Amino acid sequence: MDLGVLRGVRLMGSKPPETKGAALPPLDATKFPGHLAVIMDGNGRWAQAHGLPRIKGHEEGARSVREVTEECAALGLGRLTLYAFSSENWKRPKNEIDFLMKLLRRYLVNERRTILENNIRFTAIGRLEALGPAVLAEMEKTRELSRRNTGMVMCLALNYGGRQEIVDAAQRLAREVAEGKRAWSAVDEAALDGAMYDPAAPPPDLLIRTGGDQRISNFLLWHLAYTELWITQKAWPDFKRPELHEALRDYATRARRFGGL
Ligand code: FPP
Repeated sequence: MDLGVLRGVRLMGSKPPETKGAALPPLDATKFPGHLAVIMDGNGRWAQAHGLPRIKGHEEGARSVREVTEECAALGLGRLTLYAFSSENWKRPKNEIDFLMKLLRRYLVNERRTILENNIRFTAIGRLEALGPAVLAEMEKTRELSRRNTGMVMCLALNYGGRQEIVDAAQRLAREVAEGKRAWSAVDEAALDGAMYDPAAPPPDLLIRTGGDQRISNFLLWHLAYTELWITQKAWPDFKRPELHEALRDYATRARRFGGL
């Protein structure tokens, strides 16, 4: 039997990844994105289409987070960054913000075991202090407990804005210049790169956006310069393992030139 076809994954080595669920068409593991980023949109519309309150869309969205995270880890992706709460999401009604924070806290507690069992290293980016002590405490606990894990890095973008990240980086460098620790001429691309929230993170190879809108919505502006885009009409609560495989299969066909020939 072709081990590469086992569980729908074409393999480089001999051991098939233990991915859950029904068999899907084979994937080429040599052409996976090292870093996958996702704009998880369409929760509200999904709920509306099912005659449910918006919060039910977020609840089902949290199930997609679990399934997609587990699958990405099982496939061996290096990093998964999920846009879970933007700097602009504070404009939403208070009851929805309160629910999202509660859901996030519940996720951090309930999914801690899944994160640890899947050898995932958890981290977060954004202006995190604004999230409040309850969420921050759970986040720190998950981050600390998973610190030594060697598998996929799962990064939640929370109270995150791409422009805000660039402003924060610029201010850091400006302070260093003002304090005489850095020459103004050393404020270059590499310096800005190194002043981002997680300088060790490689730029995303693939950005998935669910919900059909064709925009970036202030996500990872600095990092998306040469990222491949994949937009689906499906709402995030309907984005599960088969939809993830579909995006990965499409990514495998892309010719990346990074401005060259
Ligand atoms: C966008 O859908 C989604 C959000 C603003 C929140 C994302 C949250 C989740 C996926 C669930 C919780 C996440 C974790 C990590 C536990 P929308 O509400 O803007 O949808 P709409 O465009 O249809 O209104």
